[in-house]
Amino acid sequence: MKGNEIRRKYLEFFKSKGHAIIPSASLMPENDPTTLFISSGMQPLIPYLMGEKHPDGKRLVNSQKSFRSGDIEEVGDNRHNTFFEMLGNWSLGDYFKKEQLNWVFEFLTKELKIDPKRLYVTVYSGNKEIGVERDNESVEIWKEIFKKHNIDSRNYDNSETEGMRDGRIFYYGDNKNWWSRSGEPANMPVGEIGGPDSEIFYDMGAELKRHENSEWKDKPCHVNCDCGRFIEVGNSVFIEFIKKEDGFKALKQKNVDFGGGLERLAMVSEGKDNVFETDLFINILKKIEELSGNKKYRDNMKAFEVIADHMKGATFIMGDDKGVAPANVDQGYIVRRLIRRTIRFGQQLGITKSSWTKEIARIIIDDYKEAYPELNRNAEFIINETEKEEDKFMKTLVKGEKMISNDKMDGKAAFNIFQTYGYPVEMTKEIVAERGIKLSHEFDTEYNEAMKKHQSLSRTAAEGKFKGGLADQSGETTKLHTVCHLLLESLKRVLGDHIHQKGSNITAKRLRFDFSHGAKMTDEEKDRVEKQVNEAIQADYPVSFEEMSLKEAKKIGAEGVFESKYGDKVKVYSVGDFSTEICGGPHVDNTNKINGVFKIKKEQSSGAGVRRIKGILE
Ligand code: SER
Repeated sequence: MKGNEIRRKYLEFFKSKGHAIIPSASLMPENDPTTLFISSGMQPLIPYLMGEKHPDGKRLVNSQKSFRSGDIEEVGDNRHNTFFEMLGNWSLGDYFKKEQLNWVFEFLTKELKIDPKRLYVTVYSGNKEIGVERDNESVEIWKEIFKKHNIDSRNYDNSETEGMRDGRIFYYGDNKNWWSRSGEPANMPVGEIGGPDSEIFYDMGAELKRHENSEWKDKPCHVNCDCGRFIEVGNSVFIEFIKKEDGFKALKQKNVDFGGGLERLAMVSEGKDNVFETDLFINILKKIEELSGNKKYRDNMKAFEVIADHMKGATFIMGDDKGVAPANVDQGYIVRRLIRRTIRFGQQLGITKSSWTKEIARIIIDDYKEAYPELNRNAEFIINETEKEEDKFMKTLVKGEKMISNDKMDGKAAFNIFQTYGYPVEMTKEIVAERGIKLSHEFDTEYNEAMKKHQSLSRTAAEGKFKGGLADQSGETTKLHTVCHLLLESLKRVLGDHIHQKGSNITAKRLRFDFSHGAKMTDEEKDRVEKQVNEAIQADYPVSFEEMSLKEAKKIGAEGVFESKYGDKVKVYSVGDFSTEICGGPHVDNTNKINGVFKIKKEQSSGAGVRRIKGILE
């Protein structure tokens, strides 16, 4: 079955089980300063998993756009992608293990017609230290399910050392069957949520050549051994815990977070051993063949995969309604890296045509515009920016490559090449490795120091900094979130109705708020805005929300920025009669809880027609 059909079937299947279909949230997180991109389905839903009421109810289903920048260099192994679609179904304190495991199995075997004999499952073996039991409940449910299919279902521990024997259900510990955004329980920061999970694996077949000749050939095979024989096709996470200072505590509600990568499901369902040969990539591969004078994918797998993957990632990031253009900082830097890396691999394939990357972007827009209409809305932007970026890079490509010295390479030189020619440092490192040149001992330190000196670039290339980073859900962050609403309304009152929110980014210590305005604010304007916000804080306004249709929300004049992430119904938060705004929450319940004095620390430009305020509570 084709990827596009699987997506539709999945949404319909869970709709028939009482779930509301919700659209994908933006790829760029909101009110979450610690990750550059959404990298799992649960991230945009965290407030609801923690107990906020979701306007569409307690059962949700979606296909979430996700991007993992940490995987940029993994691409090329047949199953890693930077951009992928995560099919997800959600119980927000509603159904739990029994319904979940039965439904997912039914979906895989009845709807996708996957042979149940090829499916194996894992469950959490428990951890006394954190007070979480072995998940015998899931084992019992799995046993019943397999029995219905006349499949033996012995369960075993220790398959890492003893192999699978004739088992069907396997226990694993913290590092495999616990899910949170930062991995196992020990790595979770205070305030983060997670829980045990149960994964489903598909058996690609013992005859797989990759297994026989690989480093794995003399080791016991088991579902998690990464030899390539088994591929994970779905993960049901039972999000029921939050980490507190003094250990793990039960959340207000027991949630289910199921995630299944669409590309992998398509691969299994289409009987392919490679995600790139599914319908989700095949048109892109055909285009690359054509552009490269008929080179074949099977003979040039890595280059084809990098180009296909990277252009898809870049297209979706630019094509988001909060889309960003290639740049030297933050998300824009990732887009730049993706397009530039595409061009280098295109050269390896001998592609000489100019402006070819936009032709690939065009294919991606056409393949996906039905499922993600924002790509069509933003098509012109995607095509123009891709073309501009390719032009820019081509102008300096040769010069830059020449600058890369042929003996030792130090971090400062790499920074200069980045500065002058726009060579992402990761790419310089790759070229250096290809030529067999050594990096200086202190390469990273040198690079970072050069970078620090160059002040405006202080956040460049810092994706490492964001890896596994987390939005905290502390009270301080919530307070500043409510302050953002007061700030937006105050800006409107002081500067005028042209003010709209363009983005926000909140930590426990400060808020950052972008808004549409053409000029620098005067000191007097800043004072007036601060005064409005502080008066609102002191007015003891109650904060409450109401659910309504998007249409009604617009009618009552509620502010709303990122509409594409909302379903039919939205939550509208009111702060007394001071402000009304479409928002997912969370907020304090009364402005007196803010308990501080708002201060604007900085007001500066943040792009054409956009200003940025940094503010704190004193
Ligand atoms: N959050 C889990 C994952 O990303 C399941 O959706 O695997």
